[in-house]
Amino acid sequence: MKFPLTLTLASLASAASINGRSLTGKTLTRRADFCDQWGQVTAGNFILYNNLWGSGNADSGEQCTGLDSSSGNNSISWHTSWTWTGGQGQVKSYANAAYVFTAAQLSSLSSIPTSWSWSYEGSDLVANVAYDLFTSSSADGDHEYEIMIWLAALGGAGPISATGSPIDTPTVAGQSWDLYEGMNGQMQVYSFVASAETESFSADLVEFIDYLQTSQGMADSQYLTDVQAGSEPFSGTDAKLTVSAYSVSVA
Ligand SMILES: *[C@@H]1O[C@H](CO)[C@@H](O)[C@H](O)[C@H]1NC(C)=O
Repeated sequence: MKFPLTLTLASLASAASINGRSLTGKTLTRRADFCDQWGQVTAGNFILYNNLWGSGNADSGEQCTGLDSSSGNNSISWHTSWTWTGGQGQVKSYANAAYVFTAAQLSSLSSIPTSWSWSYEGSDLVANVAYDLFTSSSADGDHEYEIMIWLAALGGAGPISATGSPIDTPTVAGQSWDLYEGMNGQMQVYSFVASAETESFSADLVEFIDYLQTSQGMADSQYLTDVQAGSEPFSGTDAKLTVSAYSVSVA
C-alpha cells in the first residue's frame, strides 16, 4: 500500500484551515478528503469512515473519502474515490456513513426510515453499494447477525453465500430481492441483493428485519447495534462513488 505523501500533506493543511473556519458555522462543508486506512470524520449523528480494512488483499491501490455536506443529525452527502487492483474476489474496504444511535432490541424498533441517492463512475468496477447492519444478543456484545442490503452488485460482485444460490426471493419494501445466506467468521450473514439496481432508494429498513424474523427465524431479542451505508470495492480504476443524499434514523 502506497499513498501519495504530497497529497496527504496538502490535505492536512487544507483540513486545518477549513476546520478553523467551520468552528463558527453550523454545517460543515467541503472538508478535505482523508486517505488514511482508519480515517474518519463526524457529521451530525454520522461517522464517515474511509475503512480500508481489506487493503492488504490488494496488489496496489488507494482510496480517499470526503464529506460534502451534512444537515441536522440525519442527513449527509459524501464521496469516496478509489483504485484497487489484485486480490480477486476479496473486498478491499468499506467506506461508509455509520449512523450513531442507542442499540435497541428488534422487538422495540418501530421504524428505520432511510433514503439514499448515489452514482458511481470509473472503469472495470467490481463493487457493491450496500447497507450493512449488525445485531447482537446484547447492546454491546459481539455481532451475531450481519444484514446487508445491496442496492447494486456492479461488475458481477456477489455476496457471502453458503450455497452460491439465493435461499429466497422475497419482496420487501416494494422491491424484489435475491436473499443469500452464509457465515462471515462467527456471524451469520443475510444479504438482500436488489433484482434491479436502484440509484435512488427509499424504504423503512424495519421491513427487512421483520422479514428476517418472520421468515428466517431471527430472534426479536437481538439488539440492532449498527446501521452503515457505503460501498465494498473488489477492484476497479478511477472509481468514484458520489452519495448526493443519504438520510436515516432509528426509532
Ligand atoms: C441530535 O443528536 C443529539 C445527540 O446525538 C441530540 O442531543 C440532539 O437533540 C439531536 N438534535 C435533533 C434536532 O434531533
